[in-house]
Amino acid sequence: MIALTRSVPPSITRCELTHVARQPIDYHRARAQHAAYERALETLGCRIQRLPDTPHLPDSVFVEDAAVVFDEIAVLTRPGAASRRPEIESVAAALEPQRTLAFIEEPGTLDGGDVLAVGKTVYVGLSRRTNADGARQLEHAVAPFGYRVVRAAVDGCLHLKSAVTAVSDGAVLLNPAWIDPRVFAAHDRIDVDPSEAAAANVLRVGDRVLVAAAFPRTNDRVAQRGAQIAIVDVSEIAKAEGALTCCSILVRTLGS
Ligand code: GLY
Repeated sequence: MIALTRSVPPSITRCELTHVARQPIDYHRARAQHAAYERALETLGCRIQRLPDTPHLPDSVFVEDAAVVFDEIAVLTRPGAASRRPEIESVAAALEPQRTLAFIEEPGTLDGGDVLAVGKTVYVGLSRRTNADGARQLEHAVAPFGYRVVRAAVDGCLHLKSAVTAVSDGAVLLNPAWIDPRVFAAHDRIDVDPSEAAAANVLRVGDRVLVAAAFPRTNDRVAQRGAQIAIVDVSEIAKAEGALTCCSILVRTLGS
C-alpha cells in the first residue's frame, strides 16, 4: 500500500473553514503531528510517497480531497472550494503511473472527503463541497467496474467522512446527528460517543484502524467491537478542519 501525503504548508493558518471557528494553529506542532501520522501509516504497512510541497496552498496537506482511488481507476476531483482546485495537478501526476485517470469536470464539484467506498458500494455525500453533478460524474466513472453509488445528504459537518467511516467491510462508525444512519443499514453500526461529535473519522489500513487521541470514549467503543486500533494525536490539524482520512490517499499496489 502506498500512502500519498503532502507536508503541512505554512499557509495552513489561512485554510478554508466551514464548521470550525478559526483558532491559532501552531505550525511546528502541526508538522510534528503530521510526521507522527506518517510514521503510524508506515507502521501499519504503508510506503509513504510525498507529493511536492505547495506552500502557497493552505489546505494542500488534506490530499484526500483531490482524488478517489479505486483498484481500477483514479478519479481526480474538482473541489468545491475554488481555492483548492490548484491542488489537483500534482496529485494527478503522482497517480498517473498507478492508474487510469478520470477527471470531474465543471459544473461538477466533488471532494474526496465526501466519498466512502465499502467493498463495491460507494457512498457519496452531497455537501457544501460536493454537488449532484459531481456525484453523477463519479458514478459514471466507476459504474463500469461494478461499483454502486449511494448518495447521502451531509448536514452539520464538512464532509461525509466527518460523519461516517468504515472500521471494516461489515461495520461503520458514525455520528447520527450528522448523517442518516438508515443509509448505512447494510452495515453493523457503532455510534460515536455523544461527547465526541467529530470522532467518526477513522482511517482503516488493512485490518487496523487509525484513530485520533482526542476521542478516547469512541476509540474504546471501536476497540470493544474487535477492531485493532492505533492512536495518533492530530489536534493541531483538527483546528484546520482536517482529520485522519484527509491527510493521505491510500493506493493499493496492484498485484501484491
Ligand atoms: N480546511 C479543510 C477544508 O476546508 O477543506
